[in-house]
Amino acid sequence: MNYDAVAVGKNDLAAGLSFLQDQAARAKFAWLSANLVSKSDLRPLFPASLIRQVGSLSVGVIGLTGHDGSIRFGENEDAVLIPWQKALPDIVANLAARCDLLILLSNNVMNENQAIAESFPDIHIIIQSTPRSGNIVPQLKNKSLIAQTGKQGKYLGWMSIDWQKSKTWGRLGATKELATKKLELDGINGRMSRIERREKKENLPANNSYQALLASRDRLLSEIIFLENELHDLKESGQTPSTYENHFIPLEVNLPDQPEVKKIVETAKLSVNQAGRSQADQSATSPALPELQLEKLVFTGWKGCAACHSPQTTFWEKTAHASAYQTLSEEEQQFNLDCLPCHVTAEYKDIKISNDASVLLALPVQLQQVGCELCHGPGKKHTATQDPADIARIPEIFICIRCHTSERDEEFTYDNDIERIACPASQRQ
Ligand code: HEC
Ligand code: HEC
Ligand code: HEC
Ligand code: HEC
Repeated sequence: MNYDAVAVGKNDLAAGLSFLQDQAARAKFAWLSANLVSKSDLRPLFPASLIRQVGSLSVGVIGLTGHDGSIRFGENEDAVLIPWQKALPDIVANLAARCDLLILLSNNVMNENQAIAESFPDIHIIIQSTPRSGNIVPQLKNKSLIAQTGKQGKYLGWMSIDWQKSKTWGRLGATKELATKKLELDGINGRMSRIERREKKENLPANNSYQALLASRDRLLSEIIFLENELHDLKESGQTPSTYENHFIPLEVNLPDQPEVKKIVETAKLSVNQAGRSQADQSATSPALPELQLEKLVFTGWKGCAACHSPQTTFWEKTAHASAYQTLSEEEQQFNLDCLPCHVTAEYKDIKISNDASVLLALPVQLQQVGCELCHGPGKKHTATQDPADIARIPEIFICIRCHTSERDEEFTYDNDIERIACPASQRQ
């Protein structure tokens, strides 16, 4: 893809720092991070920035590693992440003095990037990349445009920039608007002269189409003059605003299905499932692993609720949630640990059935669905007390989006989708 630069992200560090440094040394592009530094002497572990000459422009690029607290370094890794508040001031000041355009590559979340935009008016573009978001159309915050392209190469983000000396983003598209209006004017002039050739001059005042075109032409002319004046004034004061155009180009839909590739993927998926299946068989016979008996687990299982909540159970059984594990079986993926967490009952907020992921391979049948307790919370106590206070009634949005991520379910909206799965009210006597 001819990259120039990539910011070091959280996931890039998954295989350890030295692995990444090794990869970076071999890459044809630069890995940047302004805030990933050595613990002992705060020396940067990757270059913080680079400058590229593009035509007559000097473009500065800074990399920033997301700081959400979830990055842990090993005991003997001499690395620490410092907050952007500390890392950015010097480097931004330095580059702003030397560059015409300054770009920040940041895998922080939107709130954080907006705060950065508020603090650093010298940053002109922030390219965000967070796993939770898909495509984000550029939005102006303070002096910076913040934009993101959906992850995993599904889209190519394409931004064409007309960068002016003013170094500010102007009223978007004034130049483009002017060009469109001029084209429109050409069209109208053409149609008017066709009528003029056909009709006698004295008949024109009574020709409705001609009069309508005349009115449009006058309106367009005054709009064009207004826009030209506006742009002229801006240019005179050296303030011609910079403009951009943005497109997201979907990559996937244009790729033809390649039978050979598809076969390799299918085979790989089946062998992952096979490996999981053997692991599950072993777990079942291994005395060392926890006995997965329902009584000993944090979740009750849906049948435990059915006795007292039959209308809700009957409803739930008809939803796709009840057959979520079945779906995996049909795909021969029911032993794939990459799939199970979202297709079984094993996690609610910070409560996990086990820290050992392989436990998912040997769950009791009653937990092999997206069950009641994933939305209402573990129900052991409530089952005993029957007290509504011991169970959650309405699942909040963050319960859903753990599974309905933008990647798995692009169309998910809480307000619409909750209607489709909300259990019916009980008949009260
Ligand atoms: C032994 C009977 C019993 C069992 C078992 C039981 N519940 Fe309940 N549940 C009740 C009663 C009684 C209420 C209160 C009903 C009312 O207020 O109308 C209730 C209320 C609820 C409510 C509404 C809470 C509210 O704030 O209004 C939910 C949700 C619920 N139960 C879910 C579950 C789930 C999930 C399970 C299984 C883990 C379960 N219940 C098991 C008896 C039971
Ligand atoms: C543990 C993961 C998980 C959670 C939590 C979850 N879902 Fe789902 N949801 C799924 C899966 C998996 C499917 C698809 C199952 C299938 O097709 O086999 C699904 C399907 C659906 C469907 C389609 C239902 C149908 O019958 O066609 C809707 C709507 C939905 N979920 C809404 C929600 C809402 C709203 C929430 C939060 C209150 C939520 N889900 C919570 C995993 C989850
Ligand atoms: C992050 C949670 C998550 C993970 C991980 C996950 N799924 Fe799902 N899956 C969902 C949700 C949510 C839906 C429902 C999507 C919808 O309603 O459009 C779903 C639906 C499905 C469906 C039915 C709808 C469809 O798209 O055809 C299949 C099949 C499926 N998943 C297979 C898998 C497989 C195979 C894996 C592992 C390789 C997997 N899932 C991993 C959350 C997940
Ligand atoms: C995907 C999420 C989800 C799942 C799974 C789910 N529910 Fe619900 N449930 C809801 C929602 C949403 C409501 C409606 C809450 C409201 O608006 O009052 C609800 C309401 C209820 C109520 C209260 C009904 C009343 O009297 O108003 C009970 C009881 C209940 N559910 C039991 C169950 C049981 C039992 C299961 C499993 C068999 C189950 N739910 C599975 C989301 C879920």
